[in-house]
Amino acid sequence: MTQTQPSASAPVIEFRGVEKSFGDNTVYADMDLTVRRGETLTIIGGSGQGKSVCLKMMIGLLQADAGVVIVDGKTVGEQDAEGLRAIRQRVAYVFQGGALFDSMTVLENIGYALREHTDLDDAGILDKARACVDMVGLQERVLQSMPSSLSGGMRKRVALARSIAIEPEVILYDEPTTGLDPKNINRISAMIMKLQQELKVTSVVVTHDMPTARKVSDRIAMLYEKRFPFVGTAEEMWHSPQSEVRDFIHGTLREAEARHGA
Ligand SMILES: Nc1ncnc2c1ncn2[C@@H]1O[C@H](COP(=O)(O)OP(=O)(O)OP(=O)(O)O)[C@@H](O)[C@H]1O
Ligand SMILES: [Mg+2]
Repeated sequence: MTQTQPSASAPVIEFRGVEKSFGDNTVYADMDLTVRRGETLTIIGGSGQGKSVCLKMMIGLLQADAGVVIVDGKTVGEQDAEGLRAIRQRVAYVFQGGALFDSMTVLENIGYALREHTDLDDAGILDKARACVDMVGLQERVLQSMPSSLSGGMRKRVALARSIAIEPEVILYDEPTTGLDPKNINRISAMIMKLQQELKVTSVVVTHDMPTARKVSDRIAMLYEKRFPFVGTAEEMWHSPQSEVRDFIHGTLREAEARHGA
């Protein structure tokens, strides 16, 4: 965990009174959330509750129906195409499942993001791509591989390398450890912590894996019944008297027992 400095606690992303529905499916109702600069905030919650929707609203892939989403002082809903591009240059989204281009090599995947967001030439792109795969603990020869030839854990790391290539200030991770074995889960968690410490990025991590949340987070935001009734440290969560939090923790423990017990 990082030590929060006074200047580091300014908000970088804010949701105020946000509502979001798809038809009659209300995902968020009067939702508030603040992400502070330099912190790693984990969003935890059950499947289908709106974790991915929350990340997508941060970069304007989805718009709030009411309320405001503010990123770096700018209201996402008021941005034109150029404004959204500027936000997406500062806020990288590591998609659930990686979302690499399968017909391109790893180098071409990373180069694609760099061409879109920087003026680097081919040599510059190669240098940057080398540095980024090294940063996520992969060997340089992976640059020539096709994504389909890599393991799930490697693909997740390539997706991460592609995201950090544009030097974002904020990284949004959607289920970075889902489907991985314990060794790769530890690797990805360590990488999230390393990026925060070395690149000073702000991170928002979506997961339903409580051990990962406890390990990487400065604060945890619990998504429950269309809003975030609890945001605080893992320790505060564990000792919270709030009934929603207690219900959630007991539900998670029961799930874990069912997985390991039977
Ligand atoms: N583009 C969309 N159109 C219609 N409904 C959507 C859309 N995106 C999400 N939803 C709905 O919004 C709700 C929240 O979806 P979301 O993908 O955010 O869940 P999640 O918490 O990320 O779940 P999971 O843990 O399974 O990834 C779900 O009911 C989903 O069906
Ligand atoms: Mg999701």
